[in-house]
Amino acid sequence: PRPIIIDTDPGIDDAVALAIALYSEKLDVRLITTIAGNVSLQKVTTNALRLLKFFGKNVPVALGADRPLIKAPIDASDIHGSTGMDGFEFEEPTEDLVLKEHAVNAMRRVIMESDEPITLVPIGPLTNIALLLKMYPEVKEKIAEIVLMGGSTTRGNMGVMSEFNIFADPEAAKIVFSAGLPVVMVGLDVGLKALVYPEDSAELKVMNKTGNMIYQLFQKYRGGSMKTGLKMYDSCAIAYLLQPEMFQVADTFVDVELNGSLTAGCTVVDLKGYLKQPSNAKVCVDLDPDMFKQWFMESLRKCN
Ligand code: BDR
Ligand code: CA
Repeated sequence: PRPIIIDTDPGIDDAVALAIALYSEKLDVRLITTIAGNVSLQKVTTNALRLLKFFGKNVPVALGADRPLIKAPIDASDIHGSTGMDGFEFEEPTEDLVLKEHAVNAMRRVIMESDEPITLVPIGPLTNIALLLKMYPEVKEKIAEIVLMGGSTTRGNMGVMSEFNIFADPEAAKIVFSAGLPVVMVGLDVGLKALVYPEDSAELKVMNKTGNMIYQLFQKYRGGSMKTGLKMYDSCAIAYLLQPEMFQVADTFVDVELNGSLTAGCTVVDLKGYLKQPSNAKVCVDLDPDMFKQWFMESLRKCN
């Protein structure tokens, strides 16, 4: 199995992505790091621990940054509820899985100790990853790839052009895209096509214990408005790892707009090569929605 570290801010769609990753026999989740994003650092960490207890999986958890590098923190509790995972009554977790190290130090250790290069899978704001690359540049040689959920080549979900994870910490995102590492951007272009409808949710309800929990979270995700489809953004990053054939990918140059008066926090994806810069990312520009749906349901069937 491919060794990965998931950096996350659960988050209802993060919860689904974690379920799929933790139950996949093709992935070896070595570490989960938490990042303030959808809700506060404390809340997202509790949520990660609740999920691990629910799944019965013993993956170490390290707490990361409680705010962005420069910007004031924002959250997405309007989408995920005030707990970050409204809709299901989880058992209260113990702190047994929590490492004493900061996420950045834990990532460094896990990467440097590994025999094989590690893939980083950030599905929240990129603060922890940026800090890691700046503080411990020696890790770069042992990072296989960074497969991140964030950004967009077209519309945003936080601003006209800006996607939440990039908008939340654009300076961190800029550091990650310019690090000289293989980056895969799994953004809104594909997230907006990774949809779960009421009939799919009804199937999850009776699928298994995990499916039922996710069904209950979905009743609160985005205020429960499921008719136009719930977007499984973060699962797309996991889908890229496990079934890249469902994506159309463009090798291109990506930068992050820090100061635009209308476009701050958007990814500038130079698909036409105007900026004459060498490619620094593979950008997922399209997704086969049927393949995604089939993969998604099949993956969740593997859960308990
Ligand atoms: C991203 O923002 C968060 O609300 C989701 O968990 C996802 O990571 C989508 O823009
Ligand atoms: Ca997320």
